[in-house]
Amino acid sequence: MNPIMNTYQPFPIELVDGHDFHLVDKAGKTYLDLTSGIGVCNLGYSNKPIYEAVSAQLKKVWHLSNLYPNAMATAVAEKLNPAGYQSFFCNSGTEANEAALKLAHKATGKSKVIAFQEGFHGRTIGSLSVTGYPHIQEGFGPLIADVQLLDYNDQAALKAIDAETAAVILEVVQGEGGVNTGKKDWLQAIQKQCQAAGALLIIDEVQSGMGRTGYKFAHEAFDLQPDIITVAKGLGNGLPVGAMLAKAEVAAHFKPGDHGNTFGGNPVVMAAANQVLAQLTPIFLATVQEKGEKLFAELDAKIKPLPAVLSISGLGLMVGIHLDAALPVKDVISKLQEKGILTLSARGNTLRLLPPLIIDETALKTAVESIAIAIQELSPA
Ligand SMILES: Cc1ncc(COP(=O)(O)O)c(C=O)c1O
Repeated sequence: MNPIMNTYQPFPIELVDGHDFHLVDKAGKTYLDLTSGIGVCNLGYSNKPIYEAVSAQLKKVWHLSNLYPNAMATAVAEKLNPAGYQSFFCNSGTEANEAALKLAHKATGKSKVIAFQEGFHGRTIGSLSVTGYPHIQEGFGPLIADVQLLDYNDQAALKAIDAETAAVILEVVQGEGGVNTGKKDWLQAIQKQCQAAGALLIIDEVQSGMGRTGYKFAHEAFDLQPDIITVAKGLGNGLPVGAMLAKAEVAAHFKPGDHGNTFGGNPVVMAAANQVLAQLTPIFLATVQEKGEKLFAELDAKIKPLPAVLSISGLGLMVGIHLDAALPVKDVISKLQEKGILTLSARGNTLRLLPPLIIDETALKTAVESIAIAIQELSPA
């Protein structure tokens, strides 16, 4: 009997080591990584300043609890928060979204939440209720009743946001759902309608945040000012962390005892996050944008024309290659693994790329060439 529960179907590759944007398996084979551990190890697998910051903290204290002031968490919040926001720390993206839903409920005194098909926000009862994947909700009902799941980028959502609405939760680029990019006009209209109706706009930046799109928060690319922002994944570069950020006037509705957890703000994890944020400088973010533009140009030239490719979507270094149903994405992923390249899937037969943000342009070019060859080798004649 496997001592681990059967909730995943892992690939038959055991990864045991990593450096920069490469991973190494048990047999010593090196892979070019285009996954970052699902958008987590954005600054690579051997980031010395993060390693040193974590090591230094390990020599002091590993855990404090939230009963005492926490200078490391304060330093992280100061770097993380946009002006006028406050942070609440937890351990994952799901927990950050749960905190956001609770805060929205408390701040507005209302319970109706609008969320979107193909949006992914987690698998606890609250976050699953606002996740637009009927097949992963199946068997877990009744979920939270007061949720409307509407079509993304669709005008009908604007009419649904009314005086009863506590919050709208969305990703500006839906990651798991197929790397679907929100339309700027639509996102701005959603924000405007939220303001008119007294509803809060929660933007889930768990996958799109922390530099992934070339912005600290992807919503900056769409000129949005959400009431609540959730982050996780890349914030700790591999150590588990989540955060819910809210405008101070919204955050003020949480009083001592309203929400909490044991590990949030853990100083070892915060030492990593503090270093991650120190490295997300405007210059670094500009290089990510530049790499993203060059990557999309390569993809347009070499991948888009292939008959098995329907379209390419994304922003920065968050990419979706939408494949024809005749070419199952899992076959492409396996073929690329044979060639020493690790990739991801997303909904809708999508090949998803989330390379570490420190990847270089030569590696990205090699990756695009290998993906083109893999697709051609597997395409039905
Ligand atoms: C947009 C988004 N929100 C929430 C989550 C859940 O985060 P976690 O797995 O850290 O709980 C994910 C995970 O993939 C995500 O992509």
